[in-house]
Amino acid sequence: MKKVLAINSSIRKNNTFNLLKKIEKKLNEKDIMVDFINLKDYNIKECVGCELCITKDICNLNDDMDILMNKLKNYDGIIISTPVYMSNLSGKLKVFLDRTCRWFHRPELTGCPILLVSTTAGSGLKDTFLTLEKIMYQWGAFPVGKIGRSLGNLNEDVKDKDIDNFVMHLYMDKCKFKPNLNQLINFQVQKVLAVKILTFDRKYWEDKDWISKDYFFNAKIPIVSKIISRSFYKMLYKKVNPVNNNF
Ligand SMILES: Cc1cc2nc3c(=O)[nH]c(=O)nc-3n(C[C@H](O)[C@H](O)[C@H](O)COP(=O)(O)O)c2cc1C
Repeated sequence: MKKVLAINSSIRKNNTFNLLKKIEKKLNEKDIMVDFINLKDYNIKECVGCELCITKDICNLNDDMDILMNKLKNYDGIIISTPVYMSNLSGKLKVFLDRTCRWFHRPELTGCPILLVSTTAGSGLKDTFLTLEKIMYQWGAFPVGKIGRSLGNLNEDVKDKDIDNFVMHLYMDKCKFKPNLNQLINFQVQKVLAVKILTFDRKYWEDKDWISKDYFFNAKIPIVSKIISRSFYKMLYKKVNPVNNNF
């Protein structure tokens, strides 16, 4: 049985949470189990900007982030949800995502299927999904569905077509995943950082055997995308000067 984690980042259990519950019902019908976490129930301190998580894999903030980040690793897929606040994601979710910055440099959820969920009074869904999608690429995770609702269609049922792609990816062999060009370029940017800037990361990338690769795992990559992303890597590699650091 597949297990999915649904993250509610609204302080209330209202529109977004109710939509998550509808998605849970639909996933349960397909024998997929859903656990919930409400970010408000956890102690999540704001990032203080020390960058120790990036440079030394250390965080001196004593809170629940380690528990949460370890929890996320135990699921076949993740549902990330947010109400639209001021045209984008909720502050609660942003604070949480900022604290996962180490996963940009040393990704741990590579290929994890992600379903993005958001509710709004009327505007901001597009930008919210765009922001979340980019952050998921930075995690190395794999956004494969979006469900957005506004006041006009808040009570609409969740349909099979809303979750089909997410469910399919939960069962699919990763070699059949098709990363898009943005994901491939993001991978190459992360690789240049690991190889040239953050030498602390280099060993992590070597151990994962990613340095000679086009993506985190063998996936279906069209030849044109391969050529473009490889050329991008070469261009960026040349442009970026190694930093003399103590990392
Ligand atoms: C601080 C705040 C900012 C909001 N910003 C927007 C916005 O930019 N655009 C919009 O259409 N709705 C906005 N809304 C409305 C919420 O997105 C909407 O009511 C959402 O469904 C609330 O989800 P919840 O019930 O899960 O908290 C905002 C609400 C709050 C409280």
